[in-house]
Amino acid sequence: MKESNNPFDINSYSGPEYFCDRVQETAALTQHIQSHRHTAFFALRRLGKTALIRHVFHLLGKQKNRKCIYMDIYASQHLKDLTNMLANHIYAVFPENKGIGKKFWEAIKLFRPVVSIDPLSGSPELSLDISQPKQFEKTIPQLLQFLDQQSIKTVIAIDEFQQILNYPEKNVEAILRTAMQNLKNVTLIFCGSNQAMMQQIFNSAKRPFYASCSSINLQQIPKAEYEAFITGTFKKYRFKITGEITADILSFTKLHTYYTQCLCHELFNMGIKNIQPAQVQAAKLKLIQEREGTFFQYRNLLTATQWQLLKAIAKEETLLQPYANQFISKYRLGSAAIVKRSLESLLQKEMIYYNSSVEVPDYAVYDKFLMRWLQQLSL
Ligand SMILES: Nc1ncnc2c1ncn2[C@@H]1O[C@H](COP(=O)(O)OP(=O)(O)O)[C@@H](O)[C@H]1O
Ligand SMILES: [Mg+2]
Repeated sequence: MKESNNPFDINSYSGPEYFCDRVQETAALTQHIQSHRHTAFFALRRLGKTALIRHVFHLLGKQKNRKCIYMDIYASQHLKDLTNMLANHIYAVFPENKGIGKKFWEAIKLFRPVVSIDPLSGSPELSLDISQPKQFEKTIPQLLQFLDQQSIKTVIAIDEFQQILNYPEKNVEAILRTAMQNLKNVTLIFCGSNQAMMQQIFNSAKRPFYASCSSINLQQIPKAEYEAFITGTFKKYRFKITGEITADILSFTKLHTYYTQCLCHELFNMGIKNIQPAQVQAAKLKLIQEREGTFFQYRNLLTATQWQLLKAIAKEETLLQPYANQFISKYRLGSAAIVKRSLESLLQKEMIYYNSSVEVPDYAVYDKFLMRWLQQLSL
């Protein structure tokens, strides 16, 4: 069910009719799940990973013999959190009083499970009493094995998976990799938005996950598909929008899904049925002004050279050669060594990204509204 009558989702997934394209990626992920291949799934933040998983799960949800579990581990800080989150999600998917839920409850009795009501969401929350480190190293494998022994297939998507690199325990990858090896009925999807961290986990020959997963790398929705979706959606609600305006929206947001959805969401809310360039201008301005306070805070958190480099990257939109003399002198950035330090810091803070999965890798400002705001500032 859709929460509002605005067809442009900005925080959620509301169903296939509000979902743009991703036909190939949907088919690929579905295929991986159906042929029991674990997947490493990477995309920049706010490009549509979570929405794609929800979409695929929505379509798979119609199959009787399959359960889909989605868990976002961004807030987890150690292995114990991860273990509890997994137990909690299994508990949420299988009702306690019958079938698998009943067996699950039997299986975890040992850990003295406690169910409490989460004060924020109001939903029941399960936690296990796992106090010994050796004990909780074994718990995730046991939970996965439990699921594997059931008569149904389970797929588990672990979102923001790179978070495990921040845990104090350094053997989480090894624990998971070993547990995964013998699974027959449980398929895992590891999603992440930090390219460097995801590559560290999955592409390094020295690490446990190396060559263990098929990968999917999500890019921007192609322009033609997004144009057709925007025009078609507005039309369905009796709005008129020209091809030029749609192209202008997508060029403003650089096709980045979240920012595109925000701009269309805003235009829809304005309610003026014949969309004119002046309105698009007003919508852009409103979205940027709403965020201006945050943008000023960023400036206070960065050093003067980092800020200067961020502005320079915004003005370039996509930067191919940050160490070229021409770039350094144009924006008075000092030296290649200074640029290198600032660039690393901006990458680490996720103010910018380095997209290495395209033919010509480039650097760009992550937040497209911030990029547009920075472009108006003087050098
Ligand atoms: N294919 C799509 N069609 C329409 N809206 C989308 C699509 N993909 C993502 N979105 C919207 O864009 C926003 C950002 O997507 P999300 O899946 O949260 O990104 P990520 O998980 O990669 O950070 C979501 O709120 C969602 O509503
Ligand atoms: Mg997400």
